Amino acid sequence: MFLTRKLNSLLSLIDLSIVRKSVLYGWQTGEVETKQDVLLPDGAETYLTATNPRLQELRQRYATFQAQASMAIVWTDEYVQSYGLQSFRGDNCYVWQTRDPNCAEINYCLTAYYVKTIDSLGVLEKNSEDGLFGVHTYTVDLRVFSRDLLDSTVELNFLEKHLQLSHIDDLTILDIGAGYGRLAYRTANTFPNVSRYFCTDAVPESTFLSEYHLKFRGLEDKVTVVPLDEIEKKLQEQKIDLAVNIHSFSECSLEAIEWWLSLLAAEKVKNLFIVPNASDHGGDKLALNSGEDFSILVEKYGYRLQVKAPKYEDPMVQKYGVSPTYYYLFELES
Ligand SMILES: C[S@@+](CC[C@H](N)C(=O)[O-])C[C@H]1O[C@@H](n2cnc3c(N)ncnc32)[C@H](O)[C@@H]1O
Repeated sequence: MFLTRKLNSLLSLIDLSIVRKSVLYGWQTGEVETKQDVLLPDGAETYLTATNPRLQELRQRYATFQAQASMAIVWTDEYVQSYGLQSFRGDNCYVWQTRDPNCAEINYCLTAYYVKTIDSLGVLEKNSEDGLFGVHTYTVDLRVFSRDLLDSTVELNFLEKHLQLSHIDDLTILDIGAGYGRLAYRTANTFPNVSRYFCTDAVPESTFLSEYHLKFRGLEDKVTVVPLDEIEKKLQEQKIDLAVNIHSFSECSLEAIEWWLSLLAAEKVKNLFIVPNASDHGGDKLALNSGEDFSILVEKYGYRLQVKAPKYEDPMVQKYGVSPTYYYLFELES
């Protein structure tokens, strides 16, 4: 005992401690293998390559488009190209699945049970997890979950609660920084009243992957991927009920955020949902990864905060649930 205490007091200087192995779970000792095989549908391996002509074309077009829109602080070419295209739903730059706070097996288990209790919208009934493209999955209560499915369920229930999306005729949504189309896929499956969900992005790989993914899901009648250099024109032609930005502005430069906000304000997009990254469980501010607050910019373009709420309503789940953060809902002042 004396020796353990002595050693622990020394080890605490370097954030370490001696703990009995018998009190740890397998996922804490590394004895449980978390790496999963990448399941791919036919054709994915040949299409999802860095030399695909569509990806090359998008790269060229984005490189010559207005620089402000894509000015990168996180999403450099090296960053995005360090991840394999074929495992785009894996634990990578789009959706951290093992590296964000609370991403152990036990946190997934807690979050899955929580999500089942708050899903009055029925997202889980209308969506499943097929484990494709490298996504990490956890089976809880005989059902397969992923962070993709959990986050989407919580987000859509939040939006239904505050904006009653299911009651809006011909609902139109714009997703800025849409990644591989995670929320587009879940939204199109959930809301029969969605007339169009637009995905846009300033990173060519993301546009390329969302085009592929949403076509693969058979959602071309509901979802449109709009390349960066076509988005201004598209928004001039199209009313948008809600713009969403999920874990994207936190990874953008202030210049890029301002470019998007000026576009939304010019086209009078009324509702804006922002989910920042939150390494500290969020809540204190709407911030970039660097910690810089960008709420002043949002206000500058006429957006007023209507709701700020923890991702998980139960404080214990906000403490231990997968990747806790805060949700921010703004409305454009008229
Ligand atoms: C962490 S991913 C989140 C993806 C998606 N919103 C989700 O939650 O699944 C961040 C996204 O922001 C996009 N992004 C990076 N820089 C951007 C910019 N300047 N303008 C718009 N989107 C950007 C990336 O391409 C990527 O799709």
